[in-house]
Amino acid sequence: MLLEDNLYKYFDGYFEEYKVLFDSMKYSVKNGGKRVRPLLTLLFCDACGGNIKAALPMAEAVEYIHTYSLIHDDLPCMDNDDFRRGKPSNHKVYGEAMALLAGDGLLTAAFERIAVWGQAGLYSAETAVRAITELSGYAGSRGMIGGQVIDIQNENKPDISFDTLKLLDNLKTGALIEAACALGCIAAGADEEKILSAKRFASGIGLAFQIKDDILDVTGSLEKLGKMVGSDIENGKTTYVTLLGVEKCQQMVDELTNEAMKELESFDNNEALKEYAEYLAKRDY
Ligand code: IPE
Ligand code: IPE
Ligand code: MG
Ligand code: MG
Ligand code: MG
Repeated sequence: MLLEDNLYKYFDGYFEEYKVLFDSMKYSVKNGGKRVRPLLTLLFCDACGGNIKAALPMAEAVEYIHTYSLIHDDLPCMDNDDFRRGKPSNHKVYGEAMALLAGDGLLTAAFERIAVWGQAGLYSAETAVRAITELSGYAGSRGMIGGQVIDIQNENKPDISFDTLKLLDNLKTGALIEAACALGCIAAGADEEKILSAKRFASGIGLAFQIKDDILDVTGSLEKLGKMVGSDIENGKTTYVTLLGVEKCQQMVDELTNEAMKELESFDNNEALKEYAEYLAKRDY
């Protein structure tokens, strides 16, 4: 598959002197991930009538940032999880220092990919700058990283409010999904209205995605998910699931998804996106 092949190109032609860094980056990117975010980038580009080729570096960038966030999320100082994507976590194989640096490498590579292809003329410099502006905003301290901070502050606090919980989930997971969807529209040269609709859709399914992740942490299995279950309870995390229970949470996932899908009406070619949103709400891994 085009996306899958593209994801690995960056790791070829490495420096022999520190090959281990590229091996470590590739180890976590390779296989096992659902590729939800890059698929959304490609689907939105398509829904806007754009050229998928222009969206590929952006899809790649989003998946690199997501993968870096997972490597760091699993570290002993964060969630301390030993499995990811069906394999031992990065730090279990390469050690904590290399896992930290592999994450740093992927985060930086993301912006390099978008900029380099802009310079090569795949899309305009203006498109590259816009994509980098959006992605850095959503992935950074006002987005995903901020969410991870609230998540850590939330440990062993059973009385966290619904507002804080929503902010936490919107930021730690929704933000990168918003960037993924917006970047697909930006790659296609879509107008601001479309970008805003894509972001609103993403915000809804992003929150639903994290609630589903929290449900699966209770109802799933290591075999099926490829990662540790029971991690949230182990780390004393309060989630929608601990507050409301699994059934009510699945209802929330369905409602958020249905509401979000209304935003897709402004896109001509929206069938694949609709199907994908429904699949995500029902996923069991
Ligand atoms: C897991 O994301 C972390 C969250 C933000 C919920 P995914 O469930 O998309 O993980 P992969 O990419 O399939 O491994
Ligand atoms: C992860 O949330 C969010 C980010 C990595 C930004 P979780 O900690 O719930 O993700 P999993 O369950 O480990 O995949
Ligand atoms: Mg976490
Ligand atoms: Mg985790
Ligand atoms: Mg989780």
